[in-house]
Amino acid sequence: MAAAHFVRAKRQSLQMIEVFDDLAALSARAAALFIDTARESVREKGACAVALSGGTTPRLMFQKLVEHEGRDQVPWNKIYVFWGDERHVPLSDPQSNYRMTKETLLDHVPLRHVFPVPFADSAEASAQLYEATLRSHFKTLPRLDLCFLGMGADGHTASLFPGSTALTEKTRWAFASRPLSGGPDRVTLTYPVLNNSRRVCFLVAGADKAATLKQVIENTDASIHYPAQDIRPENGEVIWLLDRAAAADLTSHYNH
Ligand code: 6PG
Repeated sequence: MAAAHFVRAKRQSLQMIEVFDDLAALSARAAALFIDTARESVREKGACAVALSGGTTPRLMFQKLVEHEGRDQVPWNKIYVFWGDERHVPLSDPQSNYRMTKETLLDHVPLRHVFPVPFADSAEASAQLYEATLRSHFKTLPRLDLCFLGMGADGHTASLFPGSTALTEKTRWAFASRPLSGGPDRVTLTYPVLNNSRRVCFLVAGADKAATLKQVIENTDASIHYPAQDIRPENGEVIWLLDRAAAADLTSHYNH
């Protein structure tokens, strides 16, 4: 597993970029980060709040978690699981991020505190119910110990899509949004919550994301701006776990 570390301070956020030969190596690192963060947070404060990402990239990480040799030392019963975003479909729908996570992770480890995005009549109603869930658990603005995020080739993250009204939401914690590429409406955590995380971990793999990733990480063209560029935790760190294909366009010092 080849990995390169590069730390670049960007405004308040500290950014770490690690490049791996392939998705399997990236996913193994992400699983280890999940376990390390959970053990660190539980040691410090007796609990760990984690938001999971959806789509296809996290699947292998969940599998690596299930197979991890240290899985019996993970304080599963002290981990509180949320989602960074969800599709507005029933939890049993093949498009549901919850269903994907249930099949690959939740059915295989003893996580006890799991908070799916409720499925209601509309994405807006689901967002309101999800926000009520968050407010009931966190009381004040959530401070996630670990927030996994993916990135689309259009530069979206969670379900914060280019041009979405969710991008300017400063008060709500959960918001309804609509993907540019069609498909079901979404529910997403908003920037106030995401940028209050202690640790954000992006999982980005595949050549189709290389050009966008270069702009998001290196800001080479001021005329273009992507939602993923605005993930900058005030008092937190951002870790980018990339495969070589996604990192191919980054300047050489990221790619040893
Ligand atoms: C979703 C995700 C979304 C995802 C990116 C990358 O619900 O689809 O949360 O933000 O992380 O679109 O998706 P892939 O991992 O499938 O490339």
